[in-house]
Amino acid sequence: MEHGQPDPVGAGRVLVTGAGGQLGAALVEAFPGADARTRADLDVTQPIALGYAPGVVLHAAAWTDVDGAEADETGALRVNVEGTRNVAALGAPVVYYSSDYVFDGTKREPYVESDDPAPLGAYGRSKLLGEREVREGWIVRSSWLFGWTGHNFVCTMLRLGGERDEVRVVDDQHGCPTYVGHLAAATSELVALPGGVWHVAADGEATWAEFAAAIFAETGLACRVVPISTEELGRPAPRPAYSVLRSEREDAPQLPHWREGLRECLARL
Ligand SMILES: NC(=O)c1ccc[n+]([C@@H]2O[C@H](COP(=O)([O-])OP(=O)(O)OC[C@H]3O[C@@H](n4cnc5c(N)ncnc54)[C@H](OP(=O)(O)O)[C@@H]3O)[C@@H](O)[C@H]2O)c1
Repeated sequence: MEHGQPDPVGAGRVLVTGAGGQLGAALVEAFPGADARTRADLDVTQPIALGYAPGVVLHAAAWTDVDGAEADETGALRVNVEGTRNVAALGAPVVYYSSDYVFDGTKREPYVESDDPAPLGAYGRSKLLGEREVREGWIVRSSWLFGWTGHNFVCTMLRLGGERDEVRVVDDQHGCPTYVGHLAAATSELVALPGGVWHVAADGEATWAEFAAAIFAETGLACRVVPISTEELGRPAPRPAYSVLRSEREDAPQLPHWREGLRECLARL
């Protein structure tokens, strides 16, 4: 599949939804010439009229407030399921970004594509139901995204690390902190591969506390990480204790280690 060049009549053009989000921003860089739509330009919960037929849709728009979804599951479903239905109705193949939160985290070795999803919370349920709206394309499950825009764990730790001597961070959830620049680059590889479900996450694994310690180590911030449990943090949404993702598919894009992603991200901040 060709992409990267704006098409004067729009046919075959790459459409990016959620272009204002952290992954959306990285996709816009990886696919120059794409039709990049922020929420203000294109609300996926409304019927979509583009005036042209896109060649592929990189669907990065989503309800991503995990705790907020517990309070308003209908709202999360509207964006993640109905929104994906509207995007699929455009008729082009869709890259749908899904989540490690479709798994319950009871496994103690990496989740692969053939593992059965069993989401613990409203956000994971909405992302799994969204997967089922994709008629043609790629379901890309990734995890713990961070980038240079918006709110994310790296930005939060940099702020807290500058204000405090110590931070309390959860040390009993294990995942793959994935740099959006690496996921966007992998998307370029993926659209040349067969469709279906693909697990695409950073190499390596970490707990949030280990990730925080690496952020402070890389930036020289003198802030101590105090490991705490998920229960102590007491967030509204349940989260999988273990959600490391790996691919069992031949030719799956291989992402660099999360620490390399962290360094690249910090260099941009
Ligand atoms: N963040 C993670 O850790 C993570 C992990 C695994 C998978 N994912 C998936 O990866 C994708 C990208 O995540 P991200 O971290 O880049 O999220 P993000 O930074 O929250 O970006 C999502 C974007 O979608 C927009 N949006 C929300 N509702 C919309 C609507 N009705 N119509 C159009 N746009 C709408 C948001 O706009 P507003 O800001 O204006 O609401 C935001 O710009 C999502 O599908 C997410 O589920 C994320």
